[in-house]
Amino acid sequence: MRDVRAEETNCEDHSHDRCRDLLRYVRWTDADLAHLRALALVARPHFIKITDEFYERVREHEDAHAVLRDDTQVVRLKGTLQRWMETLLTAPRDKTYCEDRARIGRVHVRVGLPQRFVPAAMALMHGSLARIAETLPNAENIRSALTRAIDIDLAMMLETYVEDFVARLEHIQSAESMKMREAFEREVRMRADALERVAQVMVGIDPGGVVLFANKASETVTGFGRDQLEGELFVERFTHASGRDELREAVGRARVDQGGVEWTGTLETRAGHTRLVRWRFVPSADGAIVLGTGEDVTDEQSELERKIRTERLAGVGTLAAGLAHEIRNPLNGALLHVTFLERALARRDSPENEREAVRAVGDEIRRLSALVRDFLVFARPSPPTLRPINLNSLCVRTLSIFEGDARAVGASVRQDFAPEDPSINADSDKLQQVLLNLLRNAAEAVSSKKGTVTLRTRRRPRHALVEVEDDGPGLPSPEAPIFDAFYSTKPNGTGLGLAIVHRIISDHGGTIEVESAAGRTVFRVLLPATWG
Ligand code: HEM
Repeated sequence: MRDVRAEETNCEDHSHDRCRDLLRYVRWTDADLAHLRALALVARPHFIKITDEFYERVREHEDAHAVLRDDTQVVRLKGTLQRWMETLLTAPRDKTYCEDRARIGRVHVRVGLPQRFVPAAMALMHGSLARIAETLPNAENIRSALTRAIDIDLAMMLETYVEDFVARLEHIQSAESMKMREAFEREVRMRADALERVAQVMVGIDPGGVVLFANKASETVTGFGRDQLEGELFVERFTHASGRDELREAVGRARVDQGGVEWTGTLETRAGHTRLVRWRFVPSADGAIVLGTGEDVTDEQSELERKIRTERLAGVGTLAAGLAHEIRNPLNGALLHVTFLERALARRDSPENEREAVRAVGDEIRRLSALVRDFLVFARPSPPTLRPINLNSLCVRTLSIFEGDARAVGASVRQDFAPEDPSINADSDKLQQVLLNLLRNAAEAVSSKKGTVTLRTRRRPRHALVEVEDDGPGLPSPEAPIFDAFYSTKPNGTGLGLAIVHRIISDHGGTIEVESAAGRTVFRVLLPATWG
């Protein structure tokens, strides 16, 4: 049973109001009190007998025993019941009376007296006193006053049960709502946590195209902090200028398309790198915002491209490598004869046009044999033999070979090395070939303006970085498949130089990318570090 003592004082004022209303309702007057006081004079000697009978009757009920502990308590209760009769018949119906009745009611609620006992118990008391009233001369008026006095006391007592019921209901409701609120908050927290932990970018976009919220992955992929994403225009942050109209259109379509809209495009990270993101946009359940889920597929895409390239080569490669091998021997023979012919013509002082013709044939044969040589390297690659090497030292050795090429085209060479020579596991011959290919391309790119070629190394947390930079005119089309075999922008190129570079870097578990604009082209090679 809940302890209602704490509420007893709080309810006093209300109980008084209610009690006053009841008195007015039954038209209680001072004359009624006078009638009861007359009854008291006669009834007082019967009080003990009345209470004895009362508790006799009460004890007949099994449930009554539950609230009655022992005989001393019953003796005490008889005393309280006698005092109750005394006040019932003599006390003025003032504030003190009202409060006293409310208190008696609350005591019964507290001890757990079932409500159903109250009217019957009250009827017992009523009956005992009414019988005495019958014997008095003014019996009718006295009975009327007694009935109304008993009714008021009964109503007051029952009122406390209602009061208790309401209080308990409110308590249950508040406990329930507290539980619901906690469950709701827990759910919200869990959902927010899940949003934070997923690898995909997740954003909410309002009808004005502004980012309402962005999860942790949004920060990781874009490099921007949440405060730089939220409140900004979605298309400004999440795609390149060239893709904005398309992306805006896709988000707009998603507002009305329950099925969702997909869009794949690039974004520029805070550090200026390009990431490829595959988006899916859906309207929120209430249609108020658009939810965007984006997956960074940059690595997936380059891996796919690499795979396609490797597969494409594997097919034709074996066949063509065999053919190239067959061509190489006669070609070497032909070159030998042409060289012999050149010398003979020179000795005989032959006409210039004849010598020129033989030289042209020789040049063509030399170009063909360079192509065959490169092709064989490319088509039948041997796996790299990885050994610990010092990157800066390898770069220095490579530059000493490259110096001649640079001088030939009037290019200056700049070296910008990591202060601490990064040690990596690599095949130094193959890596040197990579660097030479890149450096020679760079030298060729700056040849017309006698520009600068820079070779740079850096230690990154998980990679060694090598960059070959030139200040030439830039690649004609940076999106072109420059790492594909036989793709060349140079009139005399074999189209295999960068394909070989790509293959060697991939075989080392590294990556290569290019960034090119007029005045600055950088080939960036990342090789797995032995540190970190
Ligand atoms: C309508 C008839 C009843 C009246 C007028 C009445 C009156 C009272 C009064 C005046 C008190 C003292 C309250 C206080 O000031 O602390 C009291 C307490 C109590 N009453 Fe009643 N009562 C009635 C019915 C019953 C019945 C039927 C039971 C049990 C079956 C009962 C059991 C108790 C108990 C257990 C207490 C707690 C106080 C103690 O143990 O000393 N009452 N009652």
